[in-house]
Amino acid sequence: MVTLITPRQPDFRLPRVTPQLAPQPGLQMAPQVPPQGRLTLQTQTIAADTIALRCLDWDRERFDIEFELNNGTTYNSFLIQGEKTALIDTSHRKFQALYCDYLDTLVDLSRLDYLIISHTEPDHSGLVSDILALVPEVTIVGSKVAIQFLENMVHRPFAHRIVKQGDRLELGNGHTLEFISAPNLHWPDTILTYDTGTQVLYTCDVFGMHYCDDCLVDQVPEMLAADFQYYYDCLMGPNARSVLAALKRIEPLTINLIATGHGPLLQHHIATWLDRYRTWSEALVATATYVAVLYTEDYGYSEHLAQAIAHGISRTGMGVELVDMGSTHPHDVREILGRAGGFVVGMPPQTTGATAHPLLSTILTTASPKQAFGVFESGAGQDEPLYPFRNQLREIGLTEAFPPILIKAPPTEATDQLCDEAGTDLGQWLNRDRTVKQLKAVNSDLEKALGRLSNGLYLLTARKGEVTGAMLASWVIQSSFKPLGVTIAVANDRAIVSLLQVGDRFVLNVLEEGNYQGLMKHFLKRFPPGADRFAGISTYTGSNGSPILAEALAYLECEVISRMACSDHWLVYCQVQAGRVAKPDGLTAVHHRKVGNHY
Ligand code: FEO
Repeated sequence: MVTLITPRQPDFRLPRVTPQLAPQPGLQMAPQVPPQGRLTLQTQTIAADTIALRCLDWDRERFDIEFELNNGTTYNSFLIQGEKTALIDTSHRKFQALYCDYLDTLVDLSRLDYLIISHTEPDHSGLVSDILALVPEVTIVGSKVAIQFLENMVHRPFAHRIVKQGDRLELGNGHTLEFISAPNLHWPDTILTYDTGTQVLYTCDVFGMHYCDDCLVDQVPEMLAADFQYYYDCLMGPNARSVLAALKRIEPLTINLIATGHGPLLQHHIATWLDRYRTWSEALVATATYVAVLYTEDYGYSEHLAQAIAHGISRTGMGVELVDMGSTHPHDVREILGRAGGFVVGMPPQTTGATAHPLLSTILTTASPKQAFGVFESGAGQDEPLYPFRNQLREIGLTEAFPPILIKAPPTEATDQLCDEAGTDLGQWLNRDRTVKQLKAVNSDLEKALGRLSNGLYLLTARKGEVTGAMLASWVIQSSFKPLGVTIAVANDRAIVSLLQVGDRFVLNVLEEGNYQGLMKHFLKRFPPGADRFAGISTYTGSNGSPILAEALAYLECEVISRMACSDHWLVYCQVQAGRVAKPDGLTAVHHRKVGNHY
C-alpha cells in the first residue's frame, strides 16, 4: 500500500528526530560558524580518491518556497582526485567562508580541473562564482541548459564542456565519469554523474532528503523514511514520468553508493530507496494526465522553447513528458503519445536523413481526436513546414490549444512568456472537465457558509523586464502593520505566478464600486499566449516599474517578501512601499459569492 502525500502540503510536519549514532571513522568536523543558525561542515572519504564535503544547516526551517523543514538540511558536494581533479557541485552561499577555506585545505585549488554542475539551483551552485574567482581556468561541466543558466548567473566568461546522456570524462587513476541526463529532476538542466571506477552515483537532488545529521550514510532507514517520502512528494512526484525515465537510465549500473546532494548518502538500502521512487512514480503516472512535448535537441532553440512550454503546462498540475525526437524510437513515441492527454511538437529539421523527420508520420497516425495539441518552430530556419502538419492534426479532429508559435530569432523574456502561457492554456484545456465538475458539485452547507466571506476586488499588474502580467484578485487581505504588508492568494495555475517570486514588485490596483465592470470584463477575457494585456487600457508607470491603472480607485506598490504553498494556491506576502488614493470619496468594489468552492 502506497500512501501519497499531496505535493507541497504546507502543514505536514514531521517530528524532530535526533539520532544518537557514533561518529564515522575518519570523519572530520570543521569549526562551527555562528551566524544564521548552526552551520557546520563535515568531510569524509567515501571511496578511493573521493571525499564528501557536507555542509550541515542544522536550523533551516524552510527550503526556499517549497516546503517546511523540520530536520534542517545539508548541501553535499564531492571531490574526486584522480590524475585530474573534479569537484561535483558546490554549496549554498551561506557556507561561503567555511566551504571555500576548507576546500583549500583539502586540495591544491590550482589543480582543480573540473567543476561538475548537476543542476544550477543556488543551494548547490551558490559558490560557483567563488570557485571561478579562485580557479579561473577550471572547466565547468554540465548540460547545455545548465551552462546557459550559468552564463546568466556568473556574468563572466568561463571554460565549459557540455555533456549529454552517455558522455564520458576521464579523470585517470581508474576514475571515468559517465553522465546521465535526468531533465526535470527537478530542474530542466539536471544530470547525474557515475564514476565507473568507484561505482558511486552522484545524484544531487535526486534521492535526497532534507535531513541534517552528522551520520554520513543511511544506517537507520526508519529514521529517514518520512523525510525521504516528503522530499519525493514535494520535488520529484510532480515529475513522476521523468523519475521513471531516469530510473531506466541508471538500471544497468552497479551502484555501491548513491551520493546525494541533500541528507545522508545512500549505501545500505539502495534497492529499497530506488524501489520506493519507482513504486511512487508508477502510481502517480498510472492516474495522472500528461502532455508529451516533442522537440529536437541541438536544433535551433527547440529544447529551450520546449522547456518553457513544459513549465507552463506544469503550472496547471499536468504531468509533462519531454521527448527528444532525435533519439527516441518511433515505437516509444507511439507509446508515449497514445497515453497522453495532449502533445506539443517542435518542428524538426527537414534535412535529408534527419532522424526526427519520420516521426511526424508516427505522430499523425497515433494522434486521437480526443487530444489537444500545439506546434512551434525552433528558430533554426530549416524546420519541416509547420502549417501543413498543423492542418492535418486539425483535420483529424484534434483541438488546437494555442496558435502556432513561430520563432525567428533567439528567445527573449517575451517569447519565453508566450511559450509558458501557451503551455498553461493547453494544461487548462485538459483540466476543463475537472473544473466544470467542481463548479457543478453539490454545494454543502459548509461551502455555502464559506461563500459568505466577502472580499474586495483588485487588479494586480506587474512588469518584469519585457514581461507583463495582470490578474483580477479578490483574495487580498492586509496582514501586518510594521512593515505595512498585504497577503494575496493566487491560484497555482495563473501565469502571473512567475512574476510574484520573492523580491518581485507589482501594483495592486483597488477597483471602485460602480466603476469596475469595464476593467473586469477586459482582464477576464481569454488572452492569446503572449498578448499585451494592457492594449487599449489607460495606464501610467509606477515608481516600481509596474503599470498603474488610470481608472483605479487607489493603488499600492508592493514587493514580494515571502510565499507559502497552500494546496492549490500560493499565499504571497508583500510589503507595501507606496500608494495613493485617486478618489477620496470612492468605495472599494466588493465581490459577493454564494459558495466557497470557486471564486
Ligand atoms: Fe537542492 Fe534543486 O536544489
